[in-house]
Amino acid sequence: MPFDITPIDDKPAAQIKGLDLSQPLDPAVYRALVQTLSKYPVLVFHGQDLDAAAFHGFTRRFGTLQEHVLHKYRHAEFPGLSWLTNVASDGSVDEFGVRRATTWHSDGSYTAIPPTLGILHAYETPPTGGGTLFIDMGAAFDRLTPALQTRLRGLTGLHRHGAGPGGDMYDNSLSDKQKENHRDVFHPVVTQHPDSGRPILYVNETHTHKFEGINKTDSIALVNDLVAQAVQPDAIYHHQWTPGDMLIWDERSTIHRGEGDYTPTARRIMLRAIIDQISIHE
Ligand code: OGA
Ligand code: MN
Repeated sequence: MPFDITPIDDKPAAQIKGLDLSQPLDPAVYRALVQTLSKYPVLVFHGQDLDAAAFHGFTRRFGTLQEHVLHKYRHAEFPGLSWLTNVASDGSVDEFGVRRATTWHSDGSYTAIPPTLGILHAYETPPTGGGTLFIDMGAAFDRLTPALQTRLRGLTGLHRHGAGPGGDMYDNSLSDKQKENHRDVFHPVVTQHPDSGRPILYVNETHTHKFEGINKTDSIALVNDLVAQAVQPDAIYHHQWTPGDMLIWDERSTIHRGEGDYTPTARRIMLRAIIDQISIHE
């Protein structure tokens, strides 16, 4: 491996040392990072310093960037990048930015071909709280009873932006025109990771709102039950941010959420890239 991998306790995360992500990297390094995600679905880097142009240059070499549905937060020059921020343009607190994404989800599960990687780079971070929490949904599937695993293998989930039991914060966040483009998409409840072959529980409380052949009430109960079983406190990787941190995670095999729980006037500013399909560029 062209870098050092230090596992973080017994969490689904590893710290990567020995890379300066602001410098051009060999395609072999990109391939090795993707390969490492099969074992550690969250990769943690400290002490990185990439402005938006450098972050764009680094992230786009994993594959095409997904332009996010929330237009307001897109970077003006690089629409493939989005700001995660609690600071409005006039410097006041952006209340939506404070609440956003604090329920469990996988980014873009509401799209027909969901994205593969999420990447976040922190610029300003609150002194306490404001972390990001991750769960390995391969391990979560393995923890379910064999009977439930068998039942889930036959099920298909319906996903729509913010339509799950935890998606209320997104009410009214899409324009009417966009809503037409965000109808239900269908994903098997148990997917298979393309690299590791592991079964993955592909359900989240923000965007999954129904299962084929199960009524609305029972579907919501099942979403809530599966997420509750998945997010065992011991299984969570809790990332406490420091400026200069970069996280790369596997969207196919994890769910995550913002911790919230910070003073809204403490500035929290990060840039995010979401990689559609992996195709490593020279
Ligand atoms: C998001 C998200 C996590 C965080 O905006 O999709 O997951 O910690 N944010 O802000
Ligand atoms: Mn997210």
